[in-house]
Amino acid sequence: PLQRLKDVLLSGTSLEECKDAARFDISKDNSTVSITVVGASGDLAKKKIFPALFALYYEDCLPEHFTIFGYARSKMTDAELRNMVSQTLTCRIDKRENCTEKMELFLKRCFYHSGQYDSLDNFAELDKKLKEHEDGRVSNRIFYLSIPPNIFVDAVKCASLSASSANGWTRVIVEKPFGRDSESSAALTKDLKQYLEEDQIFRIDHYLGKELVENLSVLRFSNLIFEPLWSRQYIRSVQLIFSEDFGTEGRGGYFDHYGIIRDIMQNHLLQILALFAMETPVSLDAEDIRNEKVKVLRSMRPLKLEDTVPQGSLTPTFAAAALFIDNARWEGVPFLMKAGKALHDKRTEIRVQFRHVPGNLYKRNFGPDLDDATNELVIRVQPDEAIYLTINNKVPGLGMKLDRSNLNLLYAARYSKEIPDAYERLLLDAIEGERRLFIRSDELDAAWALFTPLLKELEEKNIIPEYYPYGSRSPVGVHYLAARHNVKWG
Ligand code: NDP
Ligand code: BG6
Repeated sequence: PLQRLKDVLLSGTSLEECKDAARFDISKDNSTVSITVVGASGDLAKKKIFPALFALYYEDCLPEHFTIFGYARSKMTDAELRNMVSQTLTCRIDKRENCTEKMELFLKRCFYHSGQYDSLDNFAELDKKLKEHEDGRVSNRIFYLSIPPNIFVDAVKCASLSASSANGWTRVIVEKPFGRDSESSAALTKDLKQYLEEDQIFRIDHYLGKELVENLSVLRFSNLIFEPLWSRQYIRSVQLIFSEDFGTEGRGGYFDHYGIIRDIMQNHLLQILALFAMETPVSLDAEDIRNEKVKVLRSMRPLKLEDTVPQGSLTPTFAAAALFIDNARWEGVPFLMKAGKALHDKRTEIRVQFRHVPGNLYKRNFGPDLDDATNELVIRVQPDEAIYLTINNKVPGLGMKLDRSNLNLLYAARYSKEIPDAYERLLLDAIEGERRLFIRSDELDAAWALFTPLLKELEEKNIIPEYYPYGSRSPVGVHYLAARHNVKWG
């Protein structure tokens, strides 16, 4: 049954369908899954983890025997945890039946244990409670580290020594940031590996769980028309754009220490880039995909100060950079990244700009700037998920007027079902042991190797930021960067 489940998951099945596979597999065996949210009193646990667990439960994707424990230092009873958690659970818009009833049933499976993150004794108490709920079954355990990174290792040590499963598997989901640079990331990996094997560590990058990021490989490898164009021969530039229309609200302390390059570029945008640019993997197996991603990362040039924008004015809340992959497929193609907070809109997009049509017969219909006539493929990750291709088209009529139009796949119009949150997919994958969407340690090393020299230089030289007004489009310097590479931002 496990192989059957894996086949279903790897065949690109929807969450809805996977639910049947999961139910088929897990309800029949004598195992139980205990999920401990370490740092359950915090923001991420409330905002994302408990709602995602509820959504999985609601879709019947959790195994029959499961228990959820919140663990943190705050004093709370089970009832108080349930009350806190219940504030953020939501029902699927497209499936509201029995929702309140399901919520109550879900909350009954949630418990709380208060303890210190560095106390072997407190984790041993948790272990005792987990065993009571596991009731003699084979116990599989997940610890979700939803805590600040400086206490990751303490918590892993205690969870591993005092509360790991005696007869099943134990997995630990780790949230970013995974260090601040190559050295601290390597030290974190080394410390975690004192207590865990690499295959027990699930490093989460929630952008990999977003629907359109998952769809990237499907788009590329299952449509004949894209793959032949996917190279320097036809693609002039690729843009990875992240913007948020709010600032660092509520997370200022963390952000001040990390900044936008570490918060968004080195992980979320770089992961998308690696998936976008990788060679065809041997199979959809996690290791095959991660092998290809790591090759891309290792073929990239580490960033220099002059590749970023604006030179001498990089701000902690906004950054743009041009990255290059020095391999046969991508040599010379700029991958422009732009990430910023407190801008005029919230969106994440991949924009693929194609080259000019050589000897374009309709050149004179386009005016002086042929850039206005290039095709562009846009994958809008969020909001309003969409994939569209900008083409040139004749305006109907007797004259010969050309127009730019979109061939448009708007998800909301095409699919009626609500798109699952990234955390749902990733939690389900962690439960099933599917590692495809998690970051392997060599990927992490390669990702840090690209950004660490730049980050050090920025800090050593104490670069002065270029200011931009809250709610604006970006600092002006981004346009100079694009112009230097002879492209325009989409
Ligand atoms: P919080 O700052 O809310 O911390 C979570 C819990 O950890 C707190 O409720 C607190 O619980 C405990 N805690 C906080 N600070 C300390 C400290 N200095 N020493 C010991 N315990 C502490 O974090 P978030 O929930 O926002 O994030 C959790 C993890 O997820 C972090 O690694 C973060 O970087 C990452 N992350 C968060 C995102 C978000 O949107 N919030 C997005 C992506 C990643 P108590 O006092 O009860 O023990
Ligand atoms: C997190 C960053 O990883 O991603 C936050 O730490 C950012 O700064 C968030 O706001 C964005 O995630 P999403 O899914 O809301 O786009």
